Amino acid sequence: MQKNVIPHEFNVGKKEREAIKNHKSFLLWFTGLSGSGKSTIANAVEQALVRKGIHTYTLDGDNVRKGLNNNLSFSPDDRTENIRRIAEVSNLMIDAGLVVLAAFVSPYEKDRERIKDIVGAPNYVEIFVSTPVEECERRDVKGLYAKARTGEITNFTGINAPYEAPVNPNIEINTANVSIPEAVQMILNYIEKNNLK
Ligand code: ADX
Repeated sequence: MQKNVIPHEFNVGKKEREAIKNHKSFLLWFTGLSGSGKSTIANAVEQALVRKGIHTYTLDGDNVRKGLNNNLSFSPDDRTENIRRIAEVSNLMIDAGLVVLAAFVSPYEKDRERIKDIVGAPNYVEIFVSTPVEECERRDVKGLYAKARTGEITNFTGINAPYEAPVNPNIEINTANVSIPEAVQMILNYIEKNNLK
């Protein structure tokens, strides 16, 4: 089917859109357990970026699993498809000139490798929110760890489904030791140091 899909050559691309917005476009990908603080940090980083006049968009379970991906479960194959689609959407948004923040458990190394392939390695910043499972379970903001313990949820990441920790993330943040303002500063420093702004 795809062999007959021939892309049209458009004259406006990432570069032209970045030039209008006056900043680069790239992806900040937050991976970590449920309740580790991914979305909280992404939200605070987005606020800081917007204050600097940067054009952003945040993707997380709430706006993706309820819409685009509402036909996907938490089976390994569906998680892979979840991440693939999010990576493709992120890629379009990067092309549109945005700084994309994406907060997903994304527990499999191979799926995270594929994100990098889809968006291009220079556009991909991997942020491992490494808050330990004991701390995430203690917080249990959504009450899901309790459900996993009773067996009501059978494939819950960190309890009865695997989480493959990133081996070489660009940034690692353990919210048991690092405050949210400190986490924001770490990410802003990274962006600055790597000339991504
Ligand atoms: S992923 O594994 O496919 O990347 P995603 O980030 O979209 O997961 O969704 C994870 C969120 O869904 C968690 O923060 C949690 O609120 C909820 N959730 C529901 N069931 C599960 C489960 N079995 N494993 C992990 N998270 C779950």
